[in-house]
Amino acid sequence: MEIFAGEPVYLRPLEREEVLASLDFFRAEPEVSANLTWVLPLNNVESQERWLREMRESDRDYVFAIIEAAGGRHAGNIGLHNIDPKDRDAELGIFLFPEFRGIGMGQSAIRRLLLWGFQVRNLHRIRLRVRAYNQPARGLYRKLGFTREGVLREAYFLNGRFWDVEIWGMLEHEWRGLYPEDRLPGTPSS
Ligand SMILES: CC(C)(COP(=O)(O)OP(=O)(O)OC[C@H]1O[C@@H](n2cnc3c(N)ncnc32)[C@H](O)[C@@H]1OP(=O)(O)O)[C@@H](O)C(=O)NCCC(=O)NCCS
Repeated sequence: MEIFAGEPVYLRPLEREEVLASLDFFRAEPEVSANLTWVLPLNNVESQERWLREMRESDRDYVFAIIEAAGGRHAGNIGLHNIDPKDRDAELGIFLFPEFRGIGMGQSAIRRLLLWGFQVRNLHRIRLRVRAYNQPARGLYRKLGFTREGVLREAYFLNGRFWDVEIWGMLEHEWRGLYPEDRLPGTPSS
């Protein structure tokens, strides 16, 4: 899309090979899957394939591959889950493979997902859950303009202790104000 020319990543629907690469990665880095609010089924290839098939048929979940614009490599996954057509609400999940972190790809991928969610899927609200110890993710959401809406106190047990889980969200009108230039071609910015 022209509006994102020069950005470090683009998104496209997740393919089978990328699901399998994600599985290998989650197995190698289990603490990352602990950070994610949605995870792929981790047991075997068949359940991975079933998960992908069900997701493609579902109107409630959508996962994109994050692709490095310069080299075309698969950098991670990003998706919206539990898309609710009545409340027009959905939950965001994202991960990048370690070599792609800290260079602006997360920010770029979420900008693109917000555009898809608010403009293509006509959502009113995009929310997420983040563990309180996950400073990179909290920094990313803060920088993008998400609001920290609340805390589920000591809702998550890891490594022998309970951690708070924070709820962050962005509303469609907030997105319009923050990113007036992020519009699909041919649509007005307000
Ligand atoms: C969270 C994650 C997606 C961030 O993506 P990223 O591409 O590394 O982030 P970006 O490079 O776009 O950084 C954007 C902002 O996020 C914040 N940030 C990124 N990495 C950070 C770190 N290690 N510590 C603190 N803040 C950080 C900064 O504010 C940064 O802005 P700046 O570069 O101007 O300082 C990535 O670290 C990741 O995949 N982590 C593992 C999976 C995960 O935790 N997913 C989220 C579950 S809720």
